[in-house]
Amino acid sequence: MAQDVPAFRRARGWQQCVVFAWGALAFLPVTFLAPQVITGAFADLNGDVADVLGTGAILIFFQMLAITPLITIGGPRWFVPLRWWFGEMFFFTAITDLIIAAITTGATFHGGFLARTTGHTFLLLGTSAALLSVPLALTSSHHAQRALGRNWKPFHRVMTYLIWALILLHLLLLFGYNGQRFLQAVAGSIPLAFLRVVAVVGGYCAGRAVLRRDGRPCSGGGL
Ligand code: HEM
Repeated sequence: MAQDVPAFRRARGWQQCVVFAWGALAFLPVTFLAPQVITGAFADLNGDVADVLGTGAILIFFQMLAITPLITIGGPRWFVPLRWWFGEMFFFTAITDLIIAAITTGATFHGGFLARTTGHTFLLLGTSAALLSVPLALTSSHHAQRALGRNWKPFHRVMTYLIWALILLHLLLLFGYNGQRFLQAVAGSIPLAFLRVVAVVGGYCAGRAVLRRDGRPCSGGGL
């Protein structure tokens, strides 16, 4: 997740305010649950954790996915740091979801820690999606980017798509193919997937045009 901090630093004041306000929204899911965590109201957490943190995590994930297409379509790069920020906040929210679920859902999923985190296929999928965000977060710095070199981008791309697929499967198994939550996630995924294909093909074409230095239109197939 290239952070492109210089573009943000060069941005106008109102643009920087938009970035901070938009980024701050990512704290909302954890903030909503904070009173229950602080007061130790674990019985309520059992019911609320998946709704609040699951929904929050997927919304943050979708916003992270939306940044690249927004740049491709619109051109300005001042909000690029949000891609890194939403990636980190997705990790934080998903791992918090996993930790709270592992501690508090015993009344629903009997049989100990493993049953609460992997006792059903939909739990295993949710847990895997949350755990896969760990290597992404650990390798999101410029230092890790330099260390991984040309492997960094394919690694992040594959991991992101894997998490995306795991989340959709998590919701499919939980709510069924005509379940509202699953359909909402699919409805959010379709435009994002389409715009990402456009962004990737666009980036590929731009790269080829620069290589050939003739600017001729691209014949496609850059995926
Ligand atoms: C990447 C991480 C995750 C995402 C994005 C995610 C997303 C979601 C979403 C959007 C829902 C629907 C919530 C609603 O009904 O409003 C949900 C439900 C659920 N999730 Fe996850 N989830 C994640 C991780 C986990 C983990 C780690 C667990 C447990 C180990 C888990 C267990 C559940 C359960 C049990 C439900 C059903 C709750 C109910 O019946 O209302 N999820 N998840």
